Amino acid sequence: MNKVVLITGGAKRIGKSICEKFHKNDFSIICHYNSSDKEANELKEKLNAIRKNSIELIKFDLNDVKNYQSFCDEVLNKYGKVDVLINNASSFFATPLTEDNMSDWDDLINSNVKGPLALTKHLAENLKENSGAVINLSDAMVAKGMKNYSIYAVAKGGLESLTKSLAKELAPDIRVNAVAPGAILLPSDGSSDEEKLISSIPLGRIGNEKDISSAVFHLYKNKYITGQILRVDGGRSLN
Ligand SMILES: NC(=O)c1ccc[n+]([C@@H]2O[C@H](COP(=O)([O-])OP(=O)(O)OC[C@H]3O[C@@H](n4cnc5c(N)ncnc54)[C@H](OP(=O)(O)O)[C@@H]3O)[C@@H](O)[C@H]2O)c1
Repeated sequence: MNKVVLITGGAKRIGKSICEKFHKNDFSIICHYNSSDKEANELKEKLNAIRKNSIELIKFDLNDVKNYQSFCDEVLNKYGKVDVLINNASSFFATPLTEDNMSDWDDLINSNVKGPLALTKHLAENLKENSGAVINLSDAMVAKGMKNYSIYAVAKGGLESLTKSLAKELAPDIRVNAVAPGAILLPSDGSSDEEKLISSIPLGRIGNEKDISSAVFHLYKNKYITGQILRVDGGRSLN
């Protein structure tokens, strides 16, 4: 039987590229999504045309914290197991101190930390049986502090800390690592100054989805890496 990977937020952008990378390497894909029904169904059609019954979709809002267990039960019902969990889904928005933003706390924490923790917990027994791996998606800029994004930065900082703690707690059965992307897909509203951004990146370019999905796959493949945060940012966080 093929190995099975669950990718959260997998319908588009970096998540979609991770789905395609694992699919190309003979994995069966469980693609979680929330609002991107159209993109998820298009991806399902595309991957099933390459290999029949090779992808299943599950729609779930990671703010629905009471139902994490039933979401994981549904995951295990799809192919009967999970070998790799990739916590890619993330909400991302500014929370400047000048605005009333305490209601944003739950949203940013749920998708970026509470969800990854709960999914790992509920799937751990099964991951253990399959000598599994967990890979979390952080953010290369989080260690530097992020002006106007303090809650998001707390959430990703928490995710990095969680990655290291769970790597210790779940060793030697399950490896837990993270990929921390740099500037990969810029906001489509033109709010970022691309030229200035590129000048801050030692490798001189914005990254792309494949730079991230290949790093995620590498962390899955190398069986002697756990508890690591791999910054894939063209060297930007060195500055
Ligand atoms: N793009 C970059 O340049 C960059 C830079 C640094 C770090 N990262 C990290 O890399 C990962 C992928 O980046 P991305 O830009 O491709 O991510 P994204 O498009 O901003 O978000 C990925 C998916 O997360 C899902 N999501 C958000 N809130 C959710 C919730 N409450 N419940 C369930 N799903 C939810 C959304 O699914 P639906 O669309 O189905 O609602 C969305 O498509 C993220 O963890 C991000 O923080 C990205």
